[in-house]
Amino acid sequence: MDIKKIFENNHTWVKDKLNQDPDYFKNLSKGQNPDILYIGCSDSRVTAEELMGISAGEAFVHRNIANMVPNTDLSSMSVIDYAVVHLKVQHIVVCGHYYCGGVKAAMQSQDLGILNPWLRNIRDVYRTHKDELNLIEDEDSRYKRLVELNVQEQCINVIKTAEVQRAYRERGITIHGWVFDIHTGKLIDLKIDLSKIMANVMEIYHLD
Ligand code: CO
Repeated sequence: MDIKKIFENNHTWVKDKLNQDPDYFKNLSKGQNPDILYIGCSDSRVTAEELMGISAGEAFVHRNIANMVPNTDLSSMSVIDYAVVHLKVQHIVVCGHYYCGGVKAAMQSQDLGILNPWLRNIRDVYRTHKDELNLIEDEDSRYKRLVELNVQEQCINVIKTAEVQRAYRERGITIHGWVFDIHTGKLIDLKIDLSKIMANVMEIYHLD
């Protein structure tokens, strides 16, 4: 990748945008009012706006390895807080993807240094759903299912935060679990039953 080319690309992009709308950047600089918080994987193949077909300003985006929402991660916790309390997003999306290198790495018996504590969160998801996962003989299918269950568990982690619980009660914020299928380009809605999870989670994690 020629870094110089990026600046040429940017120049062309600015020209195209201004051709379509002379006030494009003027309007963009006025502020943001996104409706969606998107939490996805850092994987270079899984974009946020492009796969959703949305434009700049429509989603507040957080990406990390394997789309995780760990309780003690100041970065994802700050993103959720800002998006929910200040931007007042109406939807929170956790989007995983099949063939996620992070999920795959977590399941290997290997010391990965600084990645160990991060990836251990995925091992915990495996342990929680061990009975179901161990029944799946095909390794590919087992990894795919772990990707889906990881998305589900991260949605639950989102619900465990006080600000999301408050926003759910006060304005019915919704949480969505999706998986991007790299093989087909399709976005799959895992149709996570929020009310069922809510009832389950709130028994233990109710914060106010
Ligand atoms: Co990934």
